[in-house]
Amino acid sequence: MKVAVLGAGHVGPVIARLALAAGHEVAIAASGDPARIEMIIEFLAPGARPRSTTDAVADADLVVLAIPWHRFATLDPALFAGKVVVDAMNHWPPAEAPLGTSEQVAARLRGARVVKTLNHVAYQDMEPPGGRALGVAGDDRAAVEVVAAFLAGIGFDPVPVGGLVAGRLLEPGSPVFGVAVSRSELEGEVQ
Ligand SMILES: NC(=O)c1ccc[n+]([C@@H]2O[C@H](COP(=O)([O-])OP(=O)(O)OC[C@H]3O[C@@H](n4cnc5c(N)ncnc54)[C@H](OP(=O)(O)O)[C@@H]3O)[C@@H](O)[C@H]2O)c1
Repeated sequence: MKVAVLGAGHVGPVIARLALAAGHEVAIAASGDPARIEMIIEFLAPGARPRSTTDAVADADLVVLAIPWHRFATLDPALFAGKVVVDAMNHWPPAEAPLGTSEQVAARLRGARVVKTLNHVAYQDMEPPGGRALGVAGDDRAAVEVVAAFLAGIGFDPVPVGGLVAGRLLEPGSPVFGVAVSRSELEGEVQ
């Protein structure tokens, strides 16, 4: 697949590396001119292509939002229509809003096929994935399947937990947030 990772900070390059290792074509974007991140990406995720957000998303089969939550409002919703979008973001502080991030992402990026996952594992613990269980929440079943296949392909054990509302159960404050849990423990926590 063509994967666009938005965010070249802590977590974006890790996801980019995992996707590259699984044979995907990866573009990565920060907030500015892609030339600004060329050297860091060559070092952190060699093989990933630095691009602008607009260009990376336009070509992508799957987009990963790995940017700070407070920057989400800077994204142009029109770019994401029809795209499978993985929301890996977290609210900080946790109780910032009654809705989960992904419900808000879906409300703003109308037409995007939003799936929440990857948010509840610290970037230091993503590599190697080691079959770690990852909750996957989404209202679009086909998009959840695409994302689950992507996660399995890069080395995680994707565990569907329900619709986007269930994504709240993966957020800061949840017993599974930042904690290595098995598939059955994850399923038990979110039931
Ligand atoms: N850190 C973790 O362990 C971890 C794990 C799971 C999930 N998360 C979540 O992932 C998100 C990113 O966390 P992080 O720790 O990687 O943050 P970070 O180190 O602060 O990096 C943020 C990155 O997002 C980029 N960015 C900001 N606005 C953007 C835009 N409009 N388009 C493209 N890129 C943009 C920044 O680029 P500029 O420098 O150019 O602004 C920067 O490269 C957060 O929502 C966090 O809650 C983090």
